[in-house]
Amino acid sequence: MTDQVEELQKEALAALQQADSLETLQQLRTQYLGKKGRIQGLMAQLKQLPPEEKPLFGQKVNACKQTLEDALEQRQAELQDQTLENQLKAERVDITLAGDAMRIGTRHPLMLIWKELEDLFVGMGFTEAEGPEVELDYYNFELANIPKDHPARDMQDTFYIDPNTLLRTQTTAMQMRELERAGGHIPVKVFCPGKVYRRDDDDMTHSHQFMQCEGLVVGEHITLGDLKGHMQYVADTIFGKGRRIRFRPSYFPFTEPSVEVDVSCPFCNGEGCSICKHSGWIEISGSGMVHPHVLEMNGFDPEKITGYAFGFGLERLAMLKYGINDIRSFYTNDVRFLKNFERFE
Ligand code: DAH
Repeated sequence: MTDQVEELQKEALAALQQADSLETLQQLRTQYLGKKGRIQGLMAQLKQLPPEEKPLFGQKVNACKQTLEDALEQRQAELQDQTLENQLKAERVDITLAGDAMRIGTRHPLMLIWKELEDLFVGMGFTEAEGPEVELDYYNFELANIPKDHPARDMQDTFYIDPNTLLRTQTTAMQMRELERAGGHIPVKVFCPGKVYRRDDDDMTHSHQFMQCEGLVVGEHITLGDLKGHMQYVADTIFGKGRRIRFRPSYFPFTEPSVEVDVSCPFCNGEGCSICKHSGWIEISGSGMVHPHVLEMNGFDPEKITGYAFGFGLERLAMLKYGINDIRSFYTNDVRFLKNFERFE
């Protein structure tokens, strides 16, 4: 009888060693140690044995049961370790592989020009001002010396919201707000970049929405010479050293005298090319000395206080600087266009 126990133990241990999954192990557990399993079967035979053999046989079966339980547990631990190891191997991430580059947007060309002007003006001690795009007629026109019946209103086709409210047509509206805020106190030294709107039909050079940057300096002994020096500095910074600038007489209701600022063409160095229409010059700004009436309306004494002001078109500067020929490119959000400006970041 005891041979039978040894036989079973041998067989079971061999099967356990061969079990290669936790499921098979579970089946073996049921097969040998379960309620209707083989060990239980041996125990059942105990009854039929003569009394003197019973204790020894009982001990043998119990020892066998214990051995199998221990072996099962050990094999189970081995298989669990193996499963975990396999899983780790399968899920291993090779951190030395090249990754997918994250696509990061680039700065918009208008923002590049804005930042450049910002650095330039802040470096000169100017402060930056912001204002509403939905503006009062009063700041956009009235305070800028353009009363209701003034013919200069025709220079800028306007989106009116109601008779007193409009989408600002020029950042000059901000110039007026800043002059009013100063309440006659000097110095005033601000620049105001922002969007403006006009009822234009969009084409290569016109857009119903575009950006301007206004500049304003008010104080004692401010002259047209200061304006010229400032414009020279802007031209050197934006287009590179060696640019020449020139003033052409012009007309704006809020400046007297008024001038247009030209810069020697950065493409042909003033020789004449298709971009400068063979003139050697490119217009970059409208400007002039703040009109005495504008100073007066805002509480300054024009006998003692003078100032200069100017306005840049940011699209125009960006088009010249980056060689862009269609103003609509700024607003169509074509990533192929926008990606070109990565190198200017
Ligand atoms: N506001 C003018 C325009 O939109 C540009 C301009 C001209 C601004 C002369 C100024 C200035 O500040 O002094 O055409």
